[in-house]
Amino acid sequence: MSTKRKLLVITLISIFIMPASVQFFQISAAEIHPREVHLSWQNDTSTTMTISWKTSESTSSVVQYGLDNTYGLEEIGSSELFHVIELTGLAPNTAYHFRVGNGETWSSDRDFKTENTNNHVTFIAMGDSRHNRADRAFSAKQMSQISADFTIFTGDFVDSGLDANQWTNWFYDFRPLLNEIPFMCVLGNHEKNHSNYYNNFALPGKEEYYSFNYGPIHFVALHSCVPSYGGTFDEQIDWLHADLQAHNEYEWKIVVLHRPAFASSPRYNDGDYDDIKALLVPIFEQYNITMVLSGHDHFYERLANNNITYIVAGSVGAPLYEFNPVYRINQSITGESTYHFTVMDVYPNQLDFRAFRTDYSLLDEFTFNKEDKPDLRVEVVQNKYSGFYNETKEIKIRVTNIGEQNISETTAASIESDFSVLQTFDVPALDVRESYEFQYNWSVSEPGAYNIIINIDINDIIDEIGEGNNEIVLFYTALEIPKKTSYTSNFIMIVSFVLMLIIPTVIRKKKT
Ligand SMILES: [Fe+2]
Repeated sequence: MSTKRKLLVITLISIFIMPASVQFFQISAAEIHPREVHLSWQNDTSTTMTISWKTSESTSSVVQYGLDNTYGLEEIGSSELFHVIELTGLAPNTAYHFRVGNGETWSSDRDFKTENTNNHVTFIAMGDSRHNRADRAFSAKQMSQISADFTIFTGDFVDSGLDANQWTNWFYDFRPLLNEIPFMCVLGNHEKNHSNYYNNFALPGKEEYYSFNYGPIHFVALHSCVPSYGGTFDEQIDWLHADLQAHNEYEWKIVVLHRPAFASSPRYNDGDYDDIKALLVPIFEQYNITMVLSGHDHFYERLANNNITYIVAGSVGAPLYEFNPVYRINQSITGESTYHFTVMDVYPNQLDFRAFRTDYSLLDEFTFNKEDKPDLRVEVVQNKYSGFYNETKEIKIRVTNIGEQNISETTAASIESDFSVLQTFDVPALDVRESYEFQYNWSVSEPGAYNIIINIDINDIIDEIGEGNNEIVLFYTALEIPKKTSYTSNFIMIVSFVLMLIIPTVIRKKKT
């Protein structure tokens, strides 16, 4: 081969090798840093927060935290691969900054918020992420752009809970959501009750099943797959009676478990859920459970039986099952075969439920009201936006009467920035479940962090069930427009790399 040809071959190989080698060094560097950082609660949601993360080698566990990014407080744990530190004695309704590490190597600055004290809880619930990585990553990104207090996951994270690599991929795909808010979950059959699950998530009490409270809600998380491991529900049933007796005063009680009690699926018809129906449902009915959230059947379905609402929220990445009318059961209200997640806004006197497809289109909604009044709710699905400044974001605002009585007056609404009213609009009279939609085009002229507040019924004309859903805040991170890619610097890198390969050969040749 001629020297010219050799040079050409080396140059071409270098061009192909360069990105791979850069990626290799990036991964190596990342592995000595804390990774898969996520939040959960093991105890009181208003005064504690548990932070978990992993390192590739065993090293000490340190969390620095405080009200700003100078931290000031520190909690030190043992040397581990799976790090768990619970912060206690926190102030309720307070945002904290934190970073995790071993005292020398640190994560980036992050934040969390303890339980709010305004009696308004927003949480996201979904499950079954299994193996369609692009779909589950997209779902996680979409959910991360909604303002919520925490997430509930109904099980079946991965295809096989035994495979550590599948968990690594899962944490990578779910990181947009895990970066934002605490994550509470239950075991699915695919976790196979493996230690990987227990190592990955720090949960209350026994972890396999537990309960926790947030605002007016008592949550009960059950392990619905124990019979698959030769076990029985006996232990959980004893615990469930005691737990529900002790939390009887809560306005809303929500059960989370992977296998559903009711679902319009062949499995239900085959009797696969008969044990849940026979052993657990009577207890749910005895203690007036409001809602049971499950997964396992890979579609969305809402059902009702004896005053309890049953939700199957079964796919953000698991292969979808057909929602087939052939298997439709009497308890079914609505259903669809689509990737989806659910969002609940809960107040002491109202539980407002919405299910969305992952493109944010509305799939289902309903509201439980404890008062006989009208109630206006303002919503946008996505609360967090980012983009370049001068870009226009189309904000679709929807105002709905989710109360129990019609509204006969037109009401005034406004969109405000920190300093001024940007726009006002009128909301027409709305009957129960009637909506009015309005579009606002948002753009900012400088890079920076912005927010706007949308307020409805600003003159307080309507006597409503609640005022908490009359205001929403939207956040916008406007970025600098990036400069054009420098081809010169890329070219210099490639030439230097080629020279590094050629020079030793030339020197060796000269010596011989
Ligand atoms: Fe499952």
